Formats: sequence, C-alpha cells, structure tokens
Amino acid sequence: MMLYAATSNAGKLRELLMAREGSGLTDLNVEVLPNLRDIAPPAEDGATYEENAATKAVYYSGFTTGLVLAEDSGLEVEALGGAPGVRSARYAGVGATEAANNALILESLAGQANRRARFVSVAALARRGRLIQSVRGEVSGLILTELRGDRGFGYDPLFFYEPFACSFGELTPERKFEVSHRGNALRALFREWSGGLDLGH
Ligand code: IMP
Repeated sequence: MMLYAATSNAGKLRELLMAREGSGLTDLNVEVLPNLRDIAPPAEDGATYEENAATKAVYYSGFTTGLVLAEDSGLEVEALGGAPGVRSARYAGVGATEAANNALILESLAGQANRRARFVSVAALARRGRLIQSVRGEVSGLILTELRGDRGFGYDPLFFYEPFACSFGELTPERKFEVSHRGNALRALFREWSGGLDLGH
C-alpha cells in the first residue's frame, strides 16, 4: 500500500519514514505526493493544528486516489500564553526566517523565569476528500536563553529536553524522533492503523 506525504519538508518526511520503519506495517510504502510542488497550497489559517492538518490532508487527497498524510505543528510557550502556536512558522512575520523566529522568542522571553514550553504535532490521514483519522503528539521542554546545537530545524536549538539534558538542536534525527511530538503523533497514528482503521477505497 502507498502512503503519500503532503510535505516538502525533508525533516518531516524523514520522521515519517522512521515511523513507518517502527510500525510493523511492512507492506506500506511512503513517498512524497507526486507533483506536490505544482499544486497551489491551501490556506493554513485554522485556529488549531487539527484544523490545519485536516484541511491539508483532505485538500491534497483530492489530487490522488491514494492515502494522503499531512501534518501541522508548532511551539507553545507557557509564558507567552501558548504563542506562537499555530503561527509558529510565521511568528516574526510571513516568510520569516528560522533565525528571526528564534530571535523573537528570545526577545519575548527576556527576563522571564518561566521557560516552560511544548511542541505539538497533529498528523491527519485522508483519502479522496475524506478525513480518516487525526492524531496529536506532544513533548515538553524548556526554552533556553541562547541557541544550542545546529542539528534539526526551526526552534530545535532553543528547545531544551530535560530527560536528555540537551537541546533538540543537539540531537541526531533518530534520537529526536524517539521523543519528539511528531514521533509521538506518527507512532500513535500507525498504532491505530495496525489496530484496524477504515482506510476507505
Ligand atoms: P508547519 O510546517 O506549518 O507545521 O510549521 C510548523 C512550524 O513550527 C515550523 O516552521 C517550525 O518553526 C515549528 N516546528 C514544528 N515542529 C518543529 C520541530 O520539530 N522542531 C523545531 N521547530 C518545529
């Protein structure tokens, strides 16, 4: 069976491949949705990750007869009332660089003692315009006062994971995947899949 990923983010795709490896679903192949780059993306302006992930999965599933997986994620900082949340990719403005987003987090938390934060990921599965399943994963950590590590992407260098005593930016992709929000969401999705989901036709 083929599962099409509606993402051009190499990091997300790698995590999806790792999740498939560990899932025991041996006849499942994962590929990026063909022609993804030629398809105009839908607006990601939902109020929740669930809404955005479902919108993307349902929309892209209109371009194939196969199963489509989409994911939406973000960083939620407690002292910022959960910001940047669903606006994580554009926290410092539409088209903002990762460096600008990270700098704004540091600036917004200057002098703030409460550094608690979490990453959230929602993975949604759809076929032929119908949402099949949506699953959420989370991971808790602390926002550092400076960047640490140059692995990973996005807010990884600012996200300190206490059980490993290092930032996500210092972890190999495999080690990050063991505990990450996306790893948790994808593992939960494949667990439900293995348990028997109505995948439609
Ligand atoms: P999305 O592609 O719309 O889901 O955007 C999610 C945004 O949240 C990304 O651009 C990153 O800024 C941030 N983000 C989500 N997951 C991660 C992660 O695993 N590490 C670092 N940043 C992340």
